[in-house]
Amino acid sequence: MLTLVTGAAGFIGSLLVERLLADRRAVVGIDCFRDYYDPAAKRNNIAASLRDPLFTLLEADLSGDFEPALQGCIPHGERVTVYHLAAQPGVRRSWGANFGDYVRDNVTATQKLLEWASESGCVTRFVNASSSSVYGASPQTPLSEAGSLPAPVSPYGVTKLAAEHLVGLYSGRSGIPSVSFRFFTVYGPRQRPDMAFHRFILAVLRGEPVQVLDDGRQTRDFTFVSDVVEGLYRAGDSPVCGVYNLGGGNRVTLLEAVGEIENATGAKAILSFAPAQPGDARDTLADTTRLERDLGWKPGVPLQEGIRRETEWIRAAYGL
Ligand SMILES: NC(=O)c1ccc[n+]([C@@H]2O[C@H](COP(=O)([O-])OP(=O)(O)OC[C@H]3O[C@@H](n4cnc5c(N)ncnc54)[C@H](O)[C@@H]3O)[C@@H](O)[C@H]2O)c1
Repeated sequence: MLTLVTGAAGFIGSLLVERLLADRRAVVGIDCFRDYYDPAAKRNNIAASLRDPLFTLLEADLSGDFEPALQGCIPHGERVTVYHLAAQPGVRRSWGANFGDYVRDNVTATQKLLEWASESGCVTRFVNASSSSVYGASPQTPLSEAGSLPAPVSPYGVTKLAAEHLVGLYSGRSGIPSVSFRFFTVYGPRQRPDMAFHRFILAVLRGEPVQVLDDGRQTRDFTFVSDVVEGLYRAGDSPVCGVYNLGGGNRVTLLEAVGEIENATGAKAILSFAPAQPGDARDTLADTTRLERDLGWKPGVPLQEGIRRETEWIRAAYGL
């Protein structure tokens, strides 16, 4: 049994690879090291896994001609579980001229991977990383898979919703059991540098202003990355299919999160406020009843502990 992880050098993908290798699973990772943020950080993420003989990294672009090289990494007759995490992330940059990058990496790449999965005959399960962004500004909380109509408020959310639909469509056609997980603001060591906690912790440690958008009273249901990885890991061996919320358990306002960062760093935040950005949801809160029932998943890391671990990692990564 082989596991294929796309976006293997990214924040969540690289930690999923480590989790699989720790369980002595053979893993093929695909990544094309997009420069959405410094590719050197991605090389660091994957460095330890590259020393493991059970890991193979394929540097390939899923929106291009990756199929022959990928097929060459899969022994004849091997069964493959796919985790699809490759994407162009980020809500705010998805407007305007950048939209083409989102269509390429979130829609075209997903469709090409699904074509390959259907045609190759070796894929037995397909797990897709989706996003709470598909819910948009839904006034209903908590957000539930059956009760909240997806209505993205960013082009990013539109492409993630399109990818979810493609996964469902191809699953119906090919018979490959598939699941899309809607992640809720993931944080922890290796978090992308454009994400709020990464920027906030770094600014507080450097004594620089923390830029809070809007009034800071908007809420997010934060998820520590090891909880997301655990949900993904379990889903690989389970029969769950369809769409599931994965995440949450730590809903706070941004200002409350800054308070936790002050506790973890032992320093006072200098706040600077800026207007809300188009595409940002005001509040998110995950209803994870279905996931708890079908996968036995519950968030395990409380916010205080998670922020402490991310702060430790940022201190080490930046030498602070
Ligand atoms: N981090 C979060 O809070 C969050 C929230 C919701 C959903 N997600 C989803 O989780 C997944 C992982 O997110 P992340 O935060 O780890 O992002 P990330 O940017 O750290 O990782 C994504 C990786 O995919 C790679 N990639 C992009 N396009 C590719 C292509 N065409 N071919 C091959 N590789 C490609 C990038 O180089 C990158 O290393 C994404 O699908 C994202 O949409 C993340």
